[in-house]
Amino acid sequence: MQIEDLEEVLRIEIDSFEDPWNREYFVHEVLENRHSRCFCLRNPGQMVLGFACTWVVGKELLIHNFAIRRDRRGKGLGSRLLESVLDFGLGAGCRVAQLHVRPSNRPAVGLYRRAGFRTVGIRREYYGVGQEDAWVLEKPLRRSTEKGGEYPS
Ligand SMILES: CC(C)(COP(=O)(O)OP(=O)(O)OC[C@H]1O[C@@H](n2cnc3c(N)ncnc32)[C@H](O)[C@@H]1OP(=O)(O)O)[C@@H](O)C(=O)NCCC(=O)NCCS
Repeated sequence: MQIEDLEEVLRIEIDSFEDPWNREYFVHEVLENRHSRCFCLRNPGQMVLGFACTWVVGKELLIHNFAIRRDRRGKGLGSRLLESVLDFGLGAGCRVAQLHVRPSNRPAVGLYRRAGFRTVGIRREYYGVGQEDAWVLEKPLRRSTEKGGEYPS
């Protein structure tokens, strides 16, 4: 993700979330935060179809923001972007990927479960006092030659 992408990214962000990140926050993540790596998924014409914002902290890949354009959902793009992001994390030396999700967000929970994430905790009122809890989801990151890449089902 580059600064020039932010107009398209913000349109997707505002269309996707009740409490969207603002431009300043994206600028901070793209330019200033040394832990941050943000990615765009594009079509051949370079249109932004989706994006992901992550932090690499030690051996953890933290996925903070993830969305696909509303009119391109349900076509496997979220899975492709997630796979690329997890590959990036593995290449950066991470051993686990973690994120928070609203239990009521069925598409996102489905996406992450399908990718091998499992619920490892609950953060109470994560989205604000009196608001929904968050599930903490994790997936171990292992190269295909290593054993133990998935949680037992
Ligand atoms: C969550 C999101 C990224 C999924 O992207 P997508 O491109 O539609 O996902 P895919 O087409 O790759 O689908 C992958 C899996 O996700 C799940 N899924 C996707 N859409 C779903 C829906 N509407 N209902 C239930 N499960 C769904 C399914 O398990 C699906 O696998 P399947 O096709 O084998 O059933 C997209 O819905 C989105 O941008 N939502 C708004 C932003 C958001 O909630 N981000 C996550 C914050 S934690």
